[in-house]
Amino acid sequence: MKSSEIREKFLKYFESQGHKRLPGSSLVPKDPTVLLTLAGMLQFKPIFLGQEKPRHKRAATVQKCLRTNDIEQVGRTARHHTFFEMLGNFSFGDYFKREAIKFAWELLTEVFKLPRNRLLIAVFEKDDEAYDIWQKEMKVPAERIFRLDEENNFWAVGPTGPCGPCSEIYYDQGPVRGCGKTGCAPGCDCDRFLEVWNLVFIQYNRNENGELVLLKQKGIDTGMGLERIASVLQGVESNFDTDLFVPLIDKIKQISGQKKLNQTSLRIIADHVRAATNLISDGVIPENTGRGYILRRLLRRAIRHGRLLGIERQFLAEIAADVIEQMRSVYPVLEQKRATVLSAIKTEETNFLATLEQGLALFKEVMQQHAKDKVVPGASAFKLHDTFGFPVELSCEIAAESGYNLDEAGFEREMEQQRERARAAGIPAEKKKLLGLNLDKFGRSEFLGYEKSSSQAKIEAVFPDEKFIVLDRTPFYGESGGQVGDTGLLKVGGKEIRVLDALLTPKGTIVHEVDEIDGLKPEVTVDARIDISKRAATQAHHTATHLLHKALREVLGDHVKQAGSYVGPDKLRFDFSHFAAPTKQELEQVEAMVNQKIGEKIKVEVLQKSYKEAVKMGAMALFGEKYGEQVRVLKIGNYSLELCGGTHVKNTSEIGFFKIAHESALGAGVRRIEAVAGQVAKLQVTYKAKALNDQLEELMRKYRLLQIEKSNLSGEKISDVEVFKVELAELDQLMKAADQQGSARVNALFDHLQGRLDWLRDRTIRVEKEIREQKLKQASSQAAEYVNNIKEVNGIKVLTQEFGQYSMDMLRSVSDTVRNQAGSCVIVLAAVFPGNLRFLITVTDDLVAKGVSARELAGIFGRLVQGKGGGKDVKAEGGGKDPTQVNAAFEAVLAALSK
Ligand code: SER
Repeated sequence: MKSSEIREKFLKYFESQGHKRLPGSSLVPKDPTVLLTLAGMLQFKPIFLGQEKPRHKRAATVQKCLRTNDIEQVGRTARHHTFFEMLGNFSFGDYFKREAIKFAWELLTEVFKLPRNRLLIAVFEKDDEAYDIWQKEMKVPAERIFRLDEENNFWAVGPTGPCGPCSEIYYDQGPVRGCGKTGCAPGCDCDRFLEVWNLVFIQYNRNENGELVLLKQKGIDTGMGLERIASVLQGVESNFDTDLFVPLIDKIKQISGQKKLNQTSLRIIADHVRAATNLISDGVIPENTGRGYILRRLLRRAIRHGRLLGIERQFLAEIAADVIEQMRSVYPVLEQKRATVLSAIKTEETNFLATLEQGLALFKEVMQQHAKDKVVPGASAFKLHDTFGFPVELSCEIAAESGYNLDEAGFEREMEQQRERARAAGIPAEKKKLLGLNLDKFGRSEFLGYEKSSSQAKIEAVFPDEKFIVLDRTPFYGESGGQVGDTGLLKVGGKEIRVLDALLTPKGTIVHEVDEIDGLKPEVTVDARIDISKRAATQAHHTATHLLHKALREVLGDHVKQAGSYVGPDKLRFDFSHFAAPTKQELEQVEAMVNQKIGEKIKVEVLQKSYKEAVKMGAMALFGEKYGEQVRVLKIGNYSLELCGGTHVKNTSEIGFFKIAHESALGAGVRRIEAVAGQVAKLQVTYKAKALNDQLEELMRKYRLLQIEKSNLSGEKISDVEVFKVELAELDQLMKAADQQGSARVNALFDHLQGRLDWLRDRTIRVEKEIREQKLKQASSQAAEYVNNIKEVNGIKVLTQEFGQYSMDMLRSVSDTVRNQAGSCVIVLAAVFPGNLRFLITVTDDLVAKGVSARELAGIFGRLVQGKGGGKDVKAEGGGKDPTQVNAAFEAVLAALSK
């Protein structure tokens, strides 16, 4: 069975079991707590935690995953990978253990037709329920079910988050593939028992204190490795012998041209190229930190294993092209990003091949020098890393191959010192869009945009494929320091070309991304003009960011440091170090302080200083920013002093108004604030007030109607409630004069509105309950009248009675009262609604003893009204779609009783 068929059969099977087929997510997760997508459940984490509502209760996906915890094993075993595909089915508060087990068992044994006697099961040692389902219901013999401990059979997405006991399904590959040790069983490290499927019974959230908190809704998260099940279904010895790998490995063999090849190297290359290709297509580029570093490690390790196979030329892009070919129908993003993938891989190969030879020579030298202690010193490892681009993990591996150790602690110390130096100098931000562009000959662009919004400029270079141009000077701000690039227009010969973005290279060249390049040629003069309204909104957010930074330090303390930011026309986002969630009061204080500074109408100035001078003045330097010898210092009165290359308003009053929209945790000790300023803030505040006003009005209407209904029932007078709404004009006024007081009053108004809403909601619920009780009381007090309607059939007392729109509770109440008064009887009550009806049938015990059954009567009644009924002999109920047949149904019941 081809791997493509396996994917399809898996999804089809779960669709037939009511699952929605959903796309997998990117390898770069939305979840900020993990670096890479490591399981199919990750995209559903908020759903499992109950933070988001699922759109489907059951889902199935094929998810590309990347894990580095097994990287050492890759190529050395038959079954480990960095990149792999996970087939998963999920239940969000829908089915649980029994069905999850049943589905997995049915798919494996009936659809994939695996022999039952080759499958083994592991369950969490304390999970008797799962054990019993496997043994009693799936009929798996006890000797093939294993109880494993928490380490093996309790799955968690990470140190915190959803988790639960799990059950794994293993495939026995036979003793020839095993280690032969006594006690070799599922969970053993050898290749005999292959774990193919993991069923996780999600029921807890592990919180930040490490406690397991029971989730409101249980869920199911399963994952089956495609590569593994393919090796089983294709009857081959290892994952690398499946159709997913064979073409890639053949290609590598062919490029190598040698006869005897190291299997491990072949497998490592194939695995790592699959990983790299998918990572790049999902937006990762080789870098020295984070995900980019993982990618770099994978590529450089693959390059070195190519060298071990005797391949001296660039070759990884060729393999990557085959990966794209093979997988693009499943992951279309591969096709869309083909050019980027190939060029990023080529660049990385060019760079590493340029130093690999020399680095290996240095390695040899160092090893000769340290032949006695067999340790590669930290300083050498650092040099290999810093000068020759050897990821330290790669150096460790090379050292180990010759029986050497590497002084990792020493290496870390060197790295820390370098980070210190880099921090002082500022690190250039990586620019994804500029990848692969040869911009070496350009220096710092002349940026006019601090003063001007338009200018004449001459085109210096055009990159037609990427639609990029470089101008000799420009009013366009190139994205940097968190501030987005300007957009705008270029006019050339009466034609208007749109500038979609402007980027800044580490060397300071501003690159314009345009929507078309027809008519753009070097030496041509253009009229460049930025979108002023976008720039103005962005500037307001940028200056507000500085005010926010300072206010946070004042309110929370000096440990607050900027960890990242986004400054755009739509909003600002500010990430900062802080150990706990700021309280509501603290946030309001911060917000009020920023508004205070806006209200003070403070002049915003730019000072040109040397870096040293600026630091001496106490200016805050931002992480991740590259500073030259001369720096710009942004001074907001005596309040804030920061190094900044961005553009700003000239006076804080231009910001208008500032409002914090959202605060959240970004990771351990890092918080994120999203806020809006200027016109955007005013609009948002107004919209929020409008929305609250609307909700209030709506609820008020409902409340009034309920009051009228209640008054009709009870005769009580309607007590008036005070209407409360926010006058939008008043809000506007408060925002116009932004200051601490205005800011506080805006928040107070919102609190008050929210308070009124909550109060009204409570009242509404209370009145609804009162009405229900009132109706019940009435129903039972009127019941005495119905006793007079009792007829006698066949010596049995029977009441058949139709009501208007009575609830089931009301019918029950009537029925109880009648029975209490009449003694032995049959009571048949129906409540009629437009287009449907409900009914209740009660039979007293003495009549049940004589063979009268409410359930049977309900069946007769239900059929006649196009519905159904059921229950017990003494009491049954039901409903139907045809209220016009209610009398016929009563007759039918009477007829049945008369027999
Ligand atoms: N999340 C579980 C795992 O990765 C099952 O999909 O093993």
